[in-house]
Amino acid sequence: MPSPKKPVIIYGGSFDPPHRGHLALAAAALRQLAPQALYFVPGFRTPFKDFRPLPFGERRGMLAAALAAEGLAGRPDVRISDFEAGLKRVVYTYETVAHFARLHPGAPLYFLMGSDCLADFRSWRRWRTVLKSARLLAGLRPGFSSLRPAGVPFTPLAGRFPEAASSGLRGQLFLGEEPKELHKPVLAFIKKRGLYFSRERAALKKMLSPRRFLHSVETARLAIRLSTAAGIPAQKAAAAGLVHDCARDLSPAALRRRAIRLSPRPPMLAEMLKEAPVLLHAWTGAALAAEKFGLDDPDIAEAVRLHATGAPGMGPLAKLIYVSDLACHGRDFAEAGLIRELAGRDFDAAFRAANYVKLTYAFSGGGWVHPLSAGLWNTLQEKNRG
Ligand SMILES: [Fe+2]
Ligand SMILES: [Fe+2]
Repeated sequence: MPSPKKPVIIYGGSFDPPHRGHLALAAAALRQLAPQALYFVPGFRTPFKDFRPLPFGERRGMLAAALAAEGLAGRPDVRISDFEAGLKRVVYTYETVAHFARLHPGAPLYFLMGSDCLADFRSWRRWRTVLKSARLLAGLRPGFSSLRPAGVPFTPLAGRFPEAASSGLRGQLFLGEEPKELHKPVLAFIKKRGLYFSRERAALKKMLSPRRFLHSVETARLAIRLSTAAGIPAQKAAAAGLVHDCARDLSPAALRRRAIRLSPRPPMLAEMLKEAPVLLHAWTGAALAAEKFGLDDPDIAEAVRLHATGAPGMGPLAKLIYVSDLACHGRDFAEAGLIRELAGRDFDAAFRAANYVKLTYAFSGGGWVHPLSAGLWNTLQEKNRG
């Protein structure tokens, strides 16, 4: 009788970035099943859903660094597969399982996942087909009860596995933090390759005073926090928040020189040059963000352009940055904290309050008010009455 074949484990995910939780799950699976192979299968990331998704090569590089840090590099039973990334489209799990079934005929297949994925497994495309060819292998969260999703059999891994959400880690990386959930060599790889906006952030730091740079990071932090409720990718909110003031520390002469060359011309350019030249940092900043950081996304351009004045009909990202800029941590007027707190509960109310605060300060200063700001004010008042 032929000896039974050793199992094969498929571990799918975006690994953007790979973190300690991923590696703990893989290590437990290797210990428990002693498979002939465990494949990490980084999935394709859609540019439609993600802002600047990391290419497969960078994610493979981070995974390799994490594997080395865990002493798993170079083992013949641990591999990184380019199957999903190579297809350049979203690949369903049943397709991936079929691929590995062809590659290892007769070997028992396992599909590795965190317990959070178990709960919605039955909403996956052709989940019954997946179960016909592979068994689910799941790491359970601390506190996971024995309540199992009905009709989804799985093999539990010994131990408990805290979940870390990659999206939260990406937010931290954009802000320049070094989350402890990432291995040191992964952080070093990110820095070396300038990933997660680290290259751009370093350049921005050189363009701004320390105080302004800190304010930009805080604006991005609040924008990330509010992005989910606003339906905006966190990375896009982070990038816009970071660069919104990128032209703010240009000398008055440089700002003026750049502003008069802008195409299209900022509305009321002559009046701004005379009455409130500082406002030009917003329009100039949008152009500078495209030029220096390749941020030519129209939503980001709008958010930077309108963060100082606001305007009627602003898009969701522009509103998000308008509020985050005014209400972020470190602002020293009383309303900032209140608006920041309000924004988490009722964003539209926070947006109206931010406009009210900006305009009240402008009116009380007796200065010139840009017609776009006045226009936004009027629109909001009308909406309030209506
Ligand atoms: Fe600004
Ligand atoms: Fe600002």
